[in-house]
Amino acid sequence: MERNNQTVITEFVLLGVSGLPELQALLFLVFLMSYITALTGNLLIFTLTLADSALHTPMYFFLRNLSFLEISYTSVTLPKMLANLILEDKTISFTGCATQMYFLLFLGGTECFLLGVMAYDRYAAICHPLHYTCIMNNTRCTVMAAVSWLSGIFMSFVHISVIFILPFSGSHEINHFFCDIPPVLKRACGDTFLNEIVVFVSALIFITFSFVLILVSYLLIIIAIMNMPSAEGRQKAFSTCSSHLVVVTLFYGAGIVMYLRPNSAYAPDMDKLLSLFYTIITPMLNPIIYSLRNREEVKGALRRVIARMCFLNSGR
Ligand SMILES: *[C@@H]1O[C@H](CO)[C@@H](O)[C@H](O)[C@H]1NC(C)=O
Repeated sequence: MERNNQTVITEFVLLGVSGLPELQALLFLVFLMSYITALTGNLLIFTLTLADSALHTPMYFFLRNLSFLEISYTSVTLPKMLANLILEDKTISFTGCATQMYFLLFLGGTECFLLGVMAYDRYAAICHPLHYTCIMNNTRCTVMAAVSWLSGIFMSFVHISVIFILPFSGSHEINHFFCDIPPVLKRACGDTFLNEIVVFVSALIFITFSFVLILVSYLLIIIAIMNMPSAEGRQKAFSTCSSHLVVVTLFYGAGIVMYLRPNSAYAPDMDKLLSLFYTIITPMLNPIIYSLRNREEVKGALRRVIARMCFLNSGR
C-alpha cells in the first residue's frame, strides 16, 4: 500500500452544529430534556416489569429488554453530544470514536431485531390467542432475545473491523454529532468498497427484514381487529397499532435513508437530522407508546410497587 507522509490521525473532531453557534444552547436544552425523559421512562418500565409479578409475561420481558437497551443506547451518544454542544473542545480520540460506533451499531442492530420480535409477539397474542402460551414459551422468548443481542454484537464487530483498519489521514473533522458509519467513512482514505457492501448487506438484514416483519405482523393484526365483534375493542386496538406504526416507521425510515442509500448521496446536514430520529426520538417515545397500550396494567403495577415500598418502609 502506498504511504504518504501526512500525519496519521489519533483523534477526531465532532463538528455537530458548530457552524450554527446560536443554535447550540437551544439544542443543548432540547437534548437534555429528551435524555432525561428517555432515561426516566425506560428506567420506570424496567423497574416495574422487574418488580411486579403480574408483568412477568413475554410481552413485558421483551419490553424490559428494550428499556434496558434504550437506556444504554441513549447513553452511548447523548452525554457526548451534550458535552460537545457546550464545550470548546469537541475532540474524540480514535479509540473513543471506535468504541462509540461499536456500541451504537451493536445496540441499534439489536433494537431492530427486538422491535421485530415484539411485533411478532403481538401478532401471536392477538391472532392466535389459544396457542399463544405455547408459541411464546419461556425458552423461545429467551432464545429470540438472545439471538437479537448476539447478532447485534456480531454485526457491529464486523463493521468495526472493516472500518478501523482503513487508513485515516488528512482532515480529522467529522461533520456529525457522533461517530456513525457514513460520516466516519468520509474521512477514510483507503478503498471503502468492502465497507459499502457490509453496510448494505447488514442494513438489508437488520433494518429492511425487521421492518417487513413488523409491517406484516401489524397488517395481520389489523385484519384480525377488523373482524372483532365489539366496536370499542376495535377502536382501542386500532389506535394502539397506529401509534406503534408511527414510531416504528420513524425509526426504520431514518435508518433506511441513512444506511441504504448510495454513498454518493451523502448529505451531512440531512444525516444529522435523520440520526436524531433513531438516537433520541424513538428511545424517548417507546416507553410512552408501549405503556400507554397497556395503561391499566402498568398503572396497576405502579400502584402495587409503590404500596409495597410504603409497606416495607413502615415495617422497619
Ligand atoms: C434480555 O434478554 C437476554 C437474552 O434472553 C437476557 O440474557 C438478558 O438478561 C435480558 N435483559 C434484561 C435486562 O432483561
